[in-house]
Amino acid sequence: MSSVAKPIPGLSGPVLDIASNGDAALFLGMQDAFSQLEHEPLRQVLLDSLAAEKESVQAIARSFAGFLAGTQPLEVRRRFFSSYQRTNNSAMSVEGLANRMTAEGEARVGSEPDRALSLFRAAGRMNRVADEDLGVGGQALHFELYYRMATEFAGRDDEWQCRQYCLPAAVEFKSWLDTMRLRSPVMIGLYSLLVHEGYTHAEHETIAQPFYTWATTHMGLSDHDARRALAWITVHTGGTEKAHFAHSCASLAHYLQGSGAAIDLQVAGETFREYFQLKGAVMAHLNQTYR
Ligand SMILES: [Fe+2]
Ligand SMILES: [Fe+2]
Repeated sequence: MSSVAKPIPGLSGPVLDIASNGDAALFLGMQDAFSQLEHEPLRQVLLDSLAAEKESVQAIARSFAGFLAGTQPLEVRRRFFSSYQRTNNSAMSVEGLANRMTAEGEARVGSEPDRALSLFRAAGRMNRVADEDLGVGGQALHFELYYRMATEFAGRDDEWQCRQYCLPAAVEFKSWLDTMRLRSPVMIGLYSLLVHEGYTHAEHETIAQPFYTWATTHMGLSDHDARRALAWITVHTGGTEKAHFAHSCASLAHYLQGSGAAIDLQVAGETFREYFQLKGAVMAHLNQTYR
């Protein structure tokens, strides 16, 4: 899946040429995560939705490759890090979805304790998806790691946090994801979680080495400083996001038991496809801003 160059110590696997193989790496990464889903019809809908959104995935890969091809002007880097954050930073809506499950569980405690337990277990597995983000266990908050990365690469100040740098497409992505998890039926929130965790597994595994190469060549960072700046990416590699996908699958199974809800494959497919379309739109708009 890649042209092999010198390996980077500590970053496993062959060096990826994101410009020519980025989309293939994203597809493989997602298939790797999605294969964990035991519900065969839903897994097939995930894979079919991914195949149907080939162009969105290609647009994503092209955008990362374009950004990493050189040193973009400061304004472009600010826009990139401001907008990209909106497509990744979703721990709050994961926890919001878990809160909705525990509320359903509380309502059944007296009348249907078995189902209440299933709902609490669904929420419990949902909590595990956000543990690393929230620094449960004492590790750095992912919000802080992202701040460090973006600030390092966007002129060493935090101007990038200004809302003027965030593309409308990125605002739309974030509000869509929040709506799916906080206002739509809980099942739709779960579909959004499945596709997001599987996708982020693929994305982080795909971009880790290209970002390291970019940081140490185009951005002039030492090995030590590049690793420090890119910790936000590397903490999501090595199976972190793949495990989140597995927790999402388990949460779904408990939720089905506790709530009595059923999987609607049509609605699931629409949610999966919309996720890829909206993420693809953010990355395609970013691509238009590059030099
Ligand atoms: Fe995270
Ligand atoms: Fe995750």
